[in-house]
Amino acid sequence: MLTGGASAERDISLAAGAQIAASLDPARFEIVLLDPLAFMARNPEVTAEQRDQAQRLIKGGGRLEPDHQLPRGLEKQIESASRAIVPATRVMANAEPIDVVLIALFGTWGEDGRIQGLLDTLGIPYTGSSVLASALAMDKVMAKAILGAHGIDVPRGAVVRGTGRNDLEAARAVGLPVFVKPVASGSSVGASIVERAEDLEQAIAEAFRFEPPGPNARVLVEERITGRELTVAVIGNDDLQALPVIEIKTKRAFFDYSAKYDAGESEEICPAEIPEDVAKRAQAIALRAHAALGCRGMSRTDLLWSGERMAALEVNTIPGMTANSLLPKAARAAGIEFGDLLARFIDWALDDARRRAR
Ligand SMILES: Nc1ncnc2c1ncn2[C@@H]1O[C@H](COP(=O)(O)OP(=O)(O)O)[C@@H](O)[C@H]1O
Ligand SMILES: [Mg+2]
Repeated sequence: MLTGGASAERDISLAAGAQIAASLDPARFEIVLLDPLAFMARNPEVTAEQRDQAQRLIKGGGRLEPDHQLPRGLEKQIESASRAIVPATRVMANAEPIDVVLIALFGTWGEDGRIQGLLDTLGIPYTGSSVLASALAMDKVMAKAILGAHGIDVPRGAVVRGTGRNDLEAARAVGLPVFVKPVASGSSVGASIVERAEDLEQAIAEAFRFEPPGPNARVLVEERITGRELTVAVIGNDDLQALPVIEIKTKRAFFDYSAKYDAGESEEICPAEIPEDVAKRAQAIALRAHAALGCRGMSRTDLLWSGERMAALEVNTIPGMTANSLLPKAARAAGIEFGDLLARFIDWALDDARRRAR
């Protein structure tokens, strides 16, 4: 399993890794937790701190003690994964046999197609979407363009490349209030609602802090859609299944980082208490979004339902994978236990690899 990594969601990934390892059938699987951060000791695209962390990982094996505050309720699991973890370089570079990799990485470097490309090159089967679908879904501008082309309602908005005069003008033209978010990050980091014109520049600058730097760094300024927050997971290989709809209710202004990961900050209702035809509509959109982007194995489409509109915000190709995350919760509501769900992902990855072999 790949867990840890270099994204803003490293802690969550470690927590998921620990839970996955504990939930897979030990009679069938021999599990090794591999940290791909070890590959990145000389990568100029990560921070100096991450490169140091990678060096320490290579030298000392696991035992990377986090030096920051961990999400409430997940501290123990994150620490246990940190202790068990092996640098991915040690196993993968030595061409030791790996039957399949379960990717428990979220966000940049894990969910965006790059690790998938490495695994394709090494010829190692992996769970979830291919390089292309992963990369498309990770880029909210690309994903919206494709979903829109398939007739799916997506929020109207502007894409800005900085905080210059033209950018701010384009952002204001969307019409306040707006929702500002990085194009290629997850977990709501750097996202905010802007109601006053004078707060726009600051919000865009904040979103850029979480956008991978470089010439293609962009921030989305979208119309703020108010409504009920729904999310629909799709699983399957050839036969796709939309899982029961989940509604997310939070006391916070939107489904932000704390609402997502701190215990007690939001309520997730599954199946959502919505009319049957609304649930069907949400599931149909999620199935279409999954197919439009060419996802494989799993996806989770985030939606806002205004009572009239049902807008797709994004498609997650590696949805949260702790036992209490949204997709595992929806699977449980459909009668699929966490361990069984994970085994299905692995079987689909192996099936797919078998069919592609020459
Ligand atoms: N256009 C929008 N209008 C209102 N709320 C939004 C909008 N876009 C995102 N949000 C809120 O922000 C959260 C995170 O946005 P999302 O696009 O799902 O990105 P990610 O989950 O990758 O950070 C959503 O769950 C929703 O609460
Ligand atoms: Mg989301």
